[in-house]
Amino acid sequence: MQIRSATFVISNSDVSKCPNSSLPEYAFIGRSNVGKSSLINAICNKKKLAKTSSRPGKTQLINHFLINQNWHLVDLPGFGYARVSKTQKKVFQKFITNYFKQRKQLVNAFLLIDIRHEPQPIDMNFMEWLGENYIPFSIIFTKADKLKPAARERNINAYTQKMLETQWEELPPIFVTSSLHKTGGEEILEYIYSLNQSLSETDLS
Ligand code: GTP
Ligand code: MG
Repeated sequence: MQIRSATFVISNSDVSKCPNSSLPEYAFIGRSNVGKSSLINAICNKKKLAKTSSRPGKTQLINHFLINQNWHLVDLPGFGYARVSKTQKKVFQKFITNYFKQRKQLVNAFLLIDIRHEPQPIDMNFMEWLGENYIPFSIIFTKADKLKPAARERNINAYTQKMLETQWEELPPIFVTSSLHKTGGEEILEYIYSLNQSLSETDLS
């Protein structure tokens, strides 16, 4: 899928104020600093579409971007960022969970995971929560440029192994990306395209 247009629509902390449209929607979620906003920019080929920072905690709201006039890409705040106050953390968590529970347009969540790390409980718990809430998700490993191929493979295997050992019988789609080298984005766009296609076919029947 080619990106012909990508524009910012709205930011807010209240799911009821998210765009009132029936367009299919895809959200990027994951720990702070994992590279959600950077990947949105890399995929859309627009350096400043989503705000990024080397300091964690940059994205603090639900941000909607309209892609090709026919679907939304959503950038969310990171979870697990220790430096925001406890009260703020609770508010974040609340509006993020409300977003996932209430946003009917959400077709698929992409859980971003830094490829450099061992399986983290916070990510495993979030997958479990998505599963319990029947929210379809895929995994995107980020920052692939930071590891050599063998180490990448080892870390991905550690994650998939951990998933299969715990609550998962089968694995979700898995993507490996580098925003720096602009790799892996095309596969994600093809996947979104195929989901959009199957939705429009369902609508016709
Ligand atoms: P929050 O909004 O704080 O939750 O963070 P985020 O997940 O949106 O991360 P963001 O895209 O702001 O990136 C965080 C840092 O990681 C920035 O310094 C990016 O330049 C860097 N980064 C993101 N993706 C990559 C990547 O693929 N490779 C490398 N080397 N650095 C990356
Ligand atoms: Mg961000």
